[in-house]
Amino acid sequence: MSENQITPLNDADFTKLSNFIYVNYGIKLPISKKIMLQSRLASRLKINGMKSYAEYTKYVLSGEASESEIVNMIDLVSTNKTDFYRESAHFDFMKEVVLPDFLTADSRQPLKIWSSASSSGEEAYTIAMVISEFIENNRKIDFEILGTDISARILEKAKLGIYPMDRVDVIPLSQKKKYLLRSKDQENPMVRIVPHLRAKTRFQRLNLMDMSFNVPKDFDIIFCRNVLIYFDRETQEKVINKLCMHLKPGGYFFLGHSESISGIDVPLKPLKPTMFVKI
Ligand SMILES: C[S@@+](CC[C@H](N)C(=O)[O-])C[C@H]1O[C@@H](n2cnc3c(N)ncnc32)[C@H](O)[C@@H]1O
Repeated sequence: MSENQITPLNDADFTKLSNFIYVNYGIKLPISKKIMLQSRLASRLKINGMKSYAEYTKYVLSGEASESEIVNMIDLVSTNKTDFYRESAHFDFMKEVVLPDFLTADSRQPLKIWSSASSSGEEAYTIAMVISEFIENNRKIDFEILGTDISARILEKAKLGIYPMDRVDVIPLSQKKKYLLRSKDQENPMVRIVPHLRAKTRFQRLNLMDMSFNVPKDFDIIFCRNVLIYFDRETQEKVINKLCMHLKPGGYFFLGHSESISGIDVPLKPLKPTMFVKI
């Protein structure tokens, strides 16, 4: 069946589907995204042997769609843009303030960091590189990093830790030499994060819209960057408050460059733009 034999997505079904996605996953899809949604979901119609978006919409909303169908649908609608060393001021702040602070705290516990919308893992592996660099010049800090995301597909990439060569341009050469392995394939050059950094990270699926989060309660640092932008103010407040329940008092919290806590009630004190400490 070719895509053009399929009855297109009409406005009413778009509204039903986008409401379902927004209420359950926080992802906003304005009507301007209708064609995008239609083309991204075309493969799901094909796999499910359906001839119209109306049929697919009914299936999703009926509650009869399998969990894996919903996971696949969310995989197709989430925006996963990320980079190594994205918003590098956060990593400078880690080196200059957060990690020295952790050293003086004289804790024997491993430093625990949560990348709560980790996408394909670049954020988590950047954190691992920053801490490893700091450890080189200081006494040993042990650390563990958890990466979570709503998209199962993107988490598989994160777990593999394999990236095209051009994605790692931004990583300083000295760190590339230490933390990346190069593939021998000249035509399609790839790199892989070294095993000892991969061993410090783990990834699991987690929906920030869930009532509670099945992760530890004692993180020292939480990154929640460039995901709340898709949520309304009320949802942002709820999500940040839930995340803060998993952050130690005095722990650090990072938001994305266009996100803020102004006008919302959360237990965070601003230190610098988008950088906070838990009260
Ligand atoms: C634009 S990426 C940001 C990645 C990274 N934090 C950064 O700043 O580079 C946003 C990520 O949030 C994830 N996401 C969207 N809605 C989510 C939800 N309800 N729960 C968990 N993750 C979600 C998406 O799958 C996507 O990978």
